[in-house]
Amino acid sequence: MDLQLTDEQQMAQKVAAEFAKNEVLPKAAEIDHNHRHPRELVARMGELGFMGIAIPEQYGGAGLDTVSYVLVLEEISRACASTGVILSVNNSLVCDPIYKFGNEEQKQKWLTPLAQGRLLGCFALSEPEAGSDAAAQKTIARPAKGPSGEDGFVINGVKNWITNGPVADVCVLFCMADPPGRDSGHKAITSFILPMNTPGVRTGPPDKKLGIRGSQSCQIFLDDVFLPKSLLLGEVGQGFKVAMATLDGGRIGIAAQALGIGRAAYEDAGRYALERKTFGQPIANHQSIQWKLADMATEIDAARLLTLRAATQKDRGVRHSKESAMAKLFASEVANRAAKEGVQIFGGNGFVEDFPAERHYRDAKITEIYEGTSEIQRLVIASAILKE
Ligand code: CAA
Repeated sequence: MDLQLTDEQQMAQKVAAEFAKNEVLPKAAEIDHNHRHPRELVARMGELGFMGIAIPEQYGGAGLDTVSYVLVLEEISRACASTGVILSVNNSLVCDPIYKFGNEEQKQKWLTPLAQGRLLGCFALSEPEAGSDAAAQKTIARPAKGPSGEDGFVINGVKNWITNGPVADVCVLFCMADPPGRDSGHKAITSFILPMNTPGVRTGPPDKKLGIRGSQSCQIFLDDVFLPKSLLLGEVGQGFKVAMATLDGGRIGIAAQALGIGRAAYEDAGRYALERKTFGQPIANHQSIQWKLADMATEIDAARLLTLRAATQKDRGVRHSKESAMAKLFASEVANRAAKEGVQIFGGNGFVEDFPAERHYRDAKITEIYEGTSEIQRLVIASAILKE
């Protein structure tokens, strides 16, 4: 398949593949087993320019494009899905909205260290009662004066399942800005840049998760948190659009993460099938196994094409809600099918921690849930195609 990647894109992919193979993969099982945030790998990804891949160099990024981002993220997620999502959140959900909606001062102060990997970001949209229904925010930001009389907002509320929450320095936060009536819905949603060391911010214990156990997530409690107006991201009432436009990019990242997981399941199973013997020959000689591998390879390639199409669309600067949703929907379902068949090919060895198949199976599931469930992706796709 000739994708006609540019020299820069090929170089990004090569550097990521080497880093993933030599530095990430050897630690993946241990990171998962110990539910460990891979701080040292995040630092290395900063050095390699991976924490702000599509952010211009003047703001600390690598100055590459979304296609490069997809290529890098697939390679890293192929080695460790937890490391992949840490990277994805920082790039797609934190750097991207600050680049797109932030003012110059915010870009200098926050985007640059985030893109350089000197700070780590998280994105707080979900709440205990606002997951798929993202507009049902209960966190409130009320206009208030700060300690030295400056204009700002006092924020109260709770955020849920915040990836990178326990280890983040900065959060892109969504709230209802003192709605005149609670029925003002998405038009009251407002986004902020929240330094996580602001008084009144407290993180809960890390969530105990089925998969991606090296990626820490938690609740964030906001009790009378004062943020000056200078930390408003965009305008009051623009937050829902900030969130949705950001997720259009984020879903490309999760599609790439899913691709990496699907590929890991497929490649590990393929290698195992050549080694493992039953009935006097490698199981790869049995048609039942060949058909599984053929389906996995075909679906992974198709998912990659959809993901690269969405990335190309984003790079062209055109609306890509439908393309991103299709890529995320398909790639996440492919990853889950591949991971399930991977366990089956490994047989008894697929069910024990000594082999990687069960980790891929556990890691794949979240890609059908976060950044919009498969059901939400279908809604986004339907809403777009019915308007065409
Ligand atoms: N770009 C720009 N604007 C958009 C947009 C987009 N992609 N999508 C919607 N909008 C605008 C609409 O144009 C509309 O604007 P107007 O009022 O001016 O016409 C407004 O937003 C409201 O749109 P909808 O009526 O379509 O909104 P809705 O309330 O019906 O919700 C939804 C739509 C698609 C279901 C949305 O709520 C959604 O995406 N839900 C899923 C939330 C989600 O993905 N959460 C993930 C959390 S983050 C995470 O998971 C991170 C992590 O851990 C890794």
